Amino acid sequence: IDKLNRDKHLEKEEWVTLLSGYTDDDRAYAAGIAREISNSRFGNKIFIRGIVEFSNVCKNDCYYCGIRRSNTNVQRYRLTPDEILDCCDEGYELGFRTFVLQSGEDKSYTNDTLCDIVRRIKAAHPDCAVTLSLGELTYDEYKALREAGADRYLLRHETADKAHYEKLHPAEMSWDNRMECLKYLKELGYQTGAGIMVGSPYQTAECIAEDMLFFESFKPEMIGIGPFLPHKDTPFRDEPKGSYELTLFLLSLCRILLPDVLLPATTALGTIRPNGREEGVKAGANVIMPNLSPTAVRKKYMLYDNKICTGDESAQCRGCLEMRMKSIGYEVAVSRGDHI
Ligand code: SAM
Ligand code: FES
Repeated sequence: IDKLNRDKHLEKEEWVTLLSGYTDDDRAYAAGIAREISNSRFGNKIFIRGIVEFSNVCKNDCYYCGIRRSNTNVQRYRLTPDEILDCCDEGYELGFRTFVLQSGEDKSYTNDTLCDIVRRIKAAHPDCAVTLSLGELTYDEYKALREAGADRYLLRHETADKAHYEKLHPAEMSWDNRMECLKYLKELGYQTGAGIMVGSPYQTAECIAEDMLFFESFKPEMIGIGPFLPHKDTPFRDEPKGSYELTLFLLSLCRILLPDVLLPATTALGTIRPNGREEGVKAGANVIMPNLSPTAVRKKYMLYDNKICTGDESAQCRGCLEMRMKSIGYEVAVSRGDHI
């Protein structure tokens, strides 16, 4: 851990050793360094992003994901551009200055429509950042969205190990393409987010070592890390959930590796443990992404079982997080919270 902190690099075998033989003391040690780093960068401020899950329609069939196309138990929904705008307006009033538009890969929204939505949000709220999380698009589509004003893009690579990727996705999906997309996003000047699920089926310490090496070389501005949680209507329904402790440890190690990275304490972390997000912040995370979706659709965007905050209204989520952060000595910032 000291070596990582000093060199901002470990060899693959060193990662494997660290990830296969850590103790609670090691975790606490890493968390202490990580928290010191994030406090030195961000003080006691936590950035918030309002997430609008605007469609749960998806053409893909990832084995882990509750909204995969083969899941016929999902009630599918799509928000209209006006409804999406309304969510952002409400979010603005609540102090959000970043809006994350996330969906399944739903081709019923043309790229022109999506560009239009981005332009309308930016026109209504010029002091806000727009983050997209729409999955894999073409270079030209990413480019048009960037020109329409999108600032950031979240696209978890899911795993840096191609053979592992192929165990999580049907053959029609391509690891090479996903990695290519991440390259495009960086090239186009998006603040780019990559990331993984901790404890996804077939994941080994070697896989995570590859992920850490990928983070080191790609230098994402954001890293999304949460535990894998099974969903009852997916092929992975009987797989064990990811480790809470390992998720926290990885958050700390990411913070140490990339001191400036924007690192959310994810909803999945808050789902696996009631105070998971607070512990995530204490382990080095500096971002929280409360839900801004209309309450009526929230239960339908069920990526995994028992997802939290699906019964609440936006204002409740906002208030709840403010309180949770206060309880551990942090404050929610009203700002875009860009990567420095
Ligand atoms: N469709 C877009 C994409 O593929 O990037 C955005 C939505 S996708 C549902 C967002 C993320 O949810 C995925 O990158 C994946 O890591 C995470 N996710 C999906 N199913 C999950 C599960 N069962 N447990 C934990 N995270 C999950
Ligand atoms: Fe929609 Fe994986 S099931 S992107």
